[in-house]
Amino acid sequence: MVETTNINVTKVAKSKLKDLDFSNLPFGKHFTDHMLVATYANGGWQSVEIRPYEALSLQPSIVAIHYGQAIFEGIKAYRYENGEAQIFRPYDNYKRFNISAERMCMPTVPQEIFIEGMKQLIELDKEWIPTEADHSLYIRPFMFATDEIIGVKPSENYLFIIILSPTGPYYAAPMKILVEETYTRAAPGGVGFAKNAGNYAASLLATQLAKQKGYDQILWTDAFEHKWLQEVGTMNVFFIIGNTAVTPSLEEGTILAGVTRDTTITVLKEMGLTVEERKISIDELVDAYDAGTLKEVFGTGTAATISLIEKLKYQEKVLTFDLDKLTVAPELKNRLDDIRTGKSPDTHGWMISV
Ligand code: COI
Repeated sequence: MVETTNINVTKVAKSKLKDLDFSNLPFGKHFTDHMLVATYANGGWQSVEIRPYEALSLQPSIVAIHYGQAIFEGIKAYRYENGEAQIFRPYDNYKRFNISAERMCMPTVPQEIFIEGMKQLIELDKEWIPTEADHSLYIRPFMFATDEIIGVKPSENYLFIIILSPTGPYYAAPMKILVEETYTRAAPGGVGFAKNAGNYAASLLATQLAKQKGYDQILWTDAFEHKWLQEVGTMNVFFIIGNTAVTPSLEEGTILAGVTRDTTITVLKEMGLTVEERKISIDELVDAYDAGTLKEVFGTGTAATISLIEKLKYQEKVLTFDLDKLTVAPELKNRLDDIRTGKSPDTHGWMISV
């Protein structure tokens, strides 16, 4: 096994940090000085190094490009007033990464590389972590197949890489959502629970069509009846009905087990709400809206954190939510922000120091 002490570090000759405009950080556009690169070959992890962020040189035949054997994670780090860098729940993303790896016939990544490597990388580039509200260092670990052969079979060679992006909010404004009834994100037996690159490629057309109609994202429904609600855009979804928060359950394997979803469930319970993880249909949602009990709908994800929804369209029906009357989502977001930025005590052990 690769020891973290074996991480070979090559630092940049000159940092790019002084060129970064901290007041203008679109999501995922800027990258720090360094990246971590680990190589898998001959049945094991062979090398891990931290080196300058730079272009990769790869053959056009590699399996990831042709057949999409590629997975990723999204994690965030924050810098506290004392200058310390803290990562939010990286072990949960680590576990999910390896679940995705197994589903896509890829090797698992040892904790020494994923977590310890990530910590070393962040420590090196921690001056890049923005401290403004709604800003963070977005951590993107990913792995892809590098066999140079156009045959459909699991690759024997892989690269695992971590890059870091100082970043601002993902969605700048509350969202308008269209309920999707034609395209499908995931079906039982498929890969909906995995964070593989192809899931995101498959979502693009439906999202583009919704955008052409004036919507920001879509609410995915099940593959068979287009009635059971799954996810919203690239996020998990929550519905506040009376004093109960309902979110689709993970049982069928069609939904990504979001770390922010899990965090949200815990915090909502602490806020006094009942949380139900279960199947929920668009009909139930519309009925609750008509009865006046559907109070809020919001998305949760690492990139977006908590994303407010102001309008939801299903066939001819339009559900609107008065943003000034929302109470649950704004309080939830404040609570999460306070934990992650160190303003509230971290009673769950979610923050991991670098
Ligand atoms: C995340 O929330 O971290 C995601 O992976 C969503 C997206 C940026 C792909």
